[in-house]
Amino acid sequence: MSRTPVWFMRQAGRSLPEYRRLREGITMLDACNTPELAAEITMQPVRRHGVDAAIFFSDIVVPVKAVGVDLDIVPGTGPVVAAPIRDQAGIAALRPLQPDDVVGPIAAIRLLVEELGDTPLIGFAGAPFTLASYLIEGGPSRDHAATKSLMWAEPQLWHALADRLAHIAGSYLALQVGAGASAVQLFDSWAGALSETDYREYVLPHSRTALSYVAEVPKIHFGVGTGELLPAMSEAGIDVLGVDFRIPLQQAAARVGGEFALQGNLDPAALFAGADVVEGKVAAVLESAADLPGHIFNLGHGVLPSTDPGVLTAVVAQVHDSTERN
Ligand code: CP3
Repeated sequence: MSRTPVWFMRQAGRSLPEYRRLREGITMLDACNTPELAAEITMQPVRRHGVDAAIFFSDIVVPVKAVGVDLDIVPGTGPVVAAPIRDQAGIAALRPLQPDDVVGPIAAIRLLVEELGDTPLIGFAGAPFTLASYLIEGGPSRDHAATKSLMWAEPQLWHALADRLAHIAGSYLALQVGAGASAVQLFDSWAGALSETDYREYVLPHSRTALSYVAEVPKIHFGVGTGELLPAMSEAGIDVLGVDFRIPLQQAAARVGGEFALQGNLDPAALFAGADVVEGKVAAVLESAADLPGHIFNLGHGVLPSTDPGVLTAVVAQVHDSTERN
């Protein structure tokens, strides 16, 4: 029996009351670095929704913090960096990631692999551009103006920074796979801010470096608003391309030449529109995926915190029921 597999970006976390209870009085970074807690939070959506994969509960800035960057994850805001990195000295401080730096998260992976049995665990890292944006801007940014201007005005500095981040992200992915993760996803959430020309010149080589650290397991690559970048992203050395909700899967497949399995792409906002709308939109995504070489059902970006978890459970059931094949 085979059926379309389904999991959700940000399935572990704030939409679940059992998560909010566990996190009371514990900072996000402490939760990520406490193996039993990170493992338990990762398991919660697997138990509740019956999804086909667990996504490791962590954050893209965990390995950057682990090599010594002074940053915090501020509730409601995201990663905030104490001293933004914009010069050679800042870049030089970004040393390579060693296994000893991420003992807690890697111990969580080991616990999870044991507990999950046959259910795959997806490890992840942030791609160099998205990580660089947080480090250069000092926090979340709408326009990425400091990041892009550094990229254009000081290309050598940019490439040095992106190269260091690529090795940190790649090493972190390799450590997760070494501990038993059965697939990885490289998140380039903010790459959609770039033109294809800039993406190819300043970003793609570095994402390729990060992904080159993993050979043994399938590699998924995803970014938001990347409809125009999908052909370039598909050249990063990957097996599955994540597609956001702005472009139908069929059209995404035509853009990348049809040889890739695609992941996506229900609009996370659709989960608020009532059961009938959700059902129709899930069916439309499945319909759009009918002729793909492979499809992993997901959202077109992460689960929004105020999502009713019952709606996610219903989506999993619908995807499974309507794609059941012998
Ligand atoms: O369920 C999962 O997907 C696994 C956990 C996960 C988190 N962050 C937990 C988290 C994953 C895969 C991430 C990746 C991540 N982190 C990305 C790439 C994915 C994406 O959504 O585009 C990015 C850009 C970040 C940076 C970041 N960290 C943001 C934008 C935020 C949210 C800010 C906010 O509060 O609105 C965080 C914090 C964060 N990461 C939370 C969680 C559960 C909230 C922390 C809290 O509850 O205090």
